[in-house]
Amino acid sequence: MEPKGTALVTGASRGIGRATALELGLRGFDVVATMRNVEDGEGLAQEADRAGVMLEIAKLDITAADTWAAPDGLRVLVNNAAIELDNNCVEHTAMEDWRTTFETNVFGLIDVTRRAIPSIRRSGGGVICNITSCSTLVPMPFFGVYRASKAAISALGETLRSELAGFGIRVVEIMPGAIETDMLARSQLLPEGAANPGYAELGERVRANRALAAELTTPARDAAREIVDAILDEAAPLRNPCDPMGSGLLASWRATSDEEMMQPMLALFATDD
Ligand SMILES: NC(=O)c1ccc[n+]([C@@H]2O[C@H](COP(=O)([O-])OP(=O)(O)OC[C@H]3O[C@@H](n4cnc5c(N)ncnc54)[C@H](OP(=O)(O)O)[C@@H]3O)[C@@H](O)[C@H]2O)c1
Repeated sequence: MEPKGTALVTGASRGIGRATALELGLRGFDVVATMRNVEDGEGLAQEADRAGVMLEIAKLDITAADTWAAPDGLRVLVNNAAIELDNNCVEHTAMEDWRTTFETNVFGLIDVTRRAIPSIRRSGGGVICNITSCSTLVPMPFFGVYRASKAAISALGETLRSELAGFGIRVVEIMPGAIETDMLARSQLLPEGAANPGYAELGERVRANRALAAELTTPARDAAREIVDAILDEAAPLRNPCDPMGSGLLASWRATSDEEMMQPMLALFATDD
């Protein structure tokens, strides 16, 4: 697609969302960088200004979108905002944590998307880009809440892709692996679930595995370039990586059966006895 018209990014205060908002502007879109607190966008606005990029900061908490109206002329929606709470085992995760996570990562994204579709349709078509996670391809202990919320968006993307194709709206899913952001830094700590009786050794194994993965990280600005490439590419598949780790995992997932993909991971986390 031509990089023209308005592109809107959720959760653009920092991390991948911030970098993607700037990259969309550099390619030629008029960007609406949305965030919970507009004060957090001051640095981004200045950077955009210096780069000669058209970028407006706007307030949007995706869990409170009930009075939000998408801007006219919208051509691209990047559903980036998400949270990751404590990484606990399913047995000990409070239902409140499930509900809080799904309120943002699933219901918030859905509400913004359903409100954006009419504007994109009026623009003659465009792209909805959902940022999920390649963790959905890996049976990672302690990340059940987060992974389940992202898997829900993967399924949603498949349905949206078939529902919206007739309106000229393409749906792409980006599955990041390890991008240098606050979220990644937190997810590399010992999972909170390791504190529960019987889960300490598994927690250490997960931390060791994630420490290895820390050697394969990608700066957010590099990931953003891949994300915008997929948005602009009319031939992009539904699922796209944006970094080497995600690329490797997605390629393995495509080349093997789900069971073959899972077995080495299960062996990695298995206890010796
Ligand atoms: N980094 C990785 O390696 C990685 C891997 C896989 C998937 N991802 C996905 O990539 C996306 C971006 O992650 P990141 O690493 O950049 O995370 P991050 O640094 O933690 O940034 C998350 C962003 O989401 C915003 N946000 C959270 N709740 C929100 C809400 N209710 N309304 C609006 N904005 C909200 C945050 O805003 P505040 O500043 O107000 O908190 C922040 O801007 C997420 O969907 C994440 O799941 C990241």
